[in-house]
Amino acid sequence: MSKGLAIFTSGGDSAGMNPAVKCAAEYAARMGYKPWVVYDGLRGLIDDKFAEADKALMSGILHRGGTFLRSSRSKRFFDIEFRRQAFENLQKRGIEKLIVVGGDGSFRAMNQFYADFGIPFAGIPATIDNDIPETDYCLGVDTALNMIRQSVDSIRDTADSFSRAFVIEVMGRHCGYLAMVSALACGAEICLTPELPYNLDSIGERLRADFKRGRNYILAIVAEGTKMGDYLTRWINDTIGMEARLTVLGHVQRGGSPTVRDRLMAYKFAVGAVDALERGEKDSIMIYRDGTYATKPIHEVCDSRYQLDPTVLRLCRPLCQ
Ligand code: F6P
Repeated sequence: MSKGLAIFTSGGDSAGMNPAVKCAAEYAARMGYKPWVVYDGLRGLIDDKFAEADKALMSGILHRGGTFLRSSRSKRFFDIEFRRQAFENLQKRGIEKLIVVGGDGSFRAMNQFYADFGIPFAGIPATIDNDIPETDYCLGVDTALNMIRQSVDSIRDTADSFSRAFVIEVMGRHCGYLAMVSALACGAEICLTPELPYNLDSIGERLRADFKRGRNYILAIVAEGTKMGDYLTRWINDTIGMEARLTVLGHVQRGGSPTVRDRLMAYKFAVGAVDALERGEKDSIMIYRDGTYATKPIHEVCDSRYQLDPTVLRLCRPLCQ
């Protein structure tokens, strides 16, 4: 019987998960594994929601956003008895290796599972927040950025037509990556993120000088982690004296067909994950750093802090002063 390998998605969904699952399953089959998928993330591991990853199941999923396997955040997985149930589900199918597509919480859960039952795993970073340490890129980020870019470009049309200010809140949890990159890509006048100190007085002076030179509208991008959306909107309205509106983009940023970049990154991470398991690595996370694909043991990833690109930080600094 060929050795079993199961793939699943876990935590917040992101575009690129489906191409990662498809490529991992197909490449694993070529490498002599019997590929399986698990529905509903960690919950499905416990509740025995497995399916053979055959050609029919892997067809027609590449272009779809989200994860066709569905995802979950499972509290039960913290309990050894439920983890044992998950292990028994793997054992009865001869599944000896796992690939998890998700975030650092899911990687930690797999690390615990490896410590308990010795099932090697490889992790593929996927979250629109782009906040997993040691990798410059997580699946879903490019698709989310393009979704934000399209929305902000549309908002600019109405902002200009009506001489208004728009504050646009973007996701990212505690990380300001989406806010900073979209502020740069969309030419926003203001960007507030948790990583950079801001000064409303100097922002105000800058805006007034811009108005004197003929500027008639403002775009401000705010990371959700700052919780500044409402406040900044009122401040522009009351202190700066320009009619202001708040747009919270919300979960639209998590959906949509994966961009070419996300599909290709998904393939490279997926092949890297199968290769890492084949080489005998037990607890590797795929990373993309300075243009190179590599693997790192989970403790090196989860014990470090995420560092934002210093050039992006430098370019954004003038937008919060
Ligand atoms: O981690 C991805 C993310 O979309 C964050 O940007 C956001 O803060 C959070 O998930 C939203 O979580 P939920 O979908 O549970 O509301």
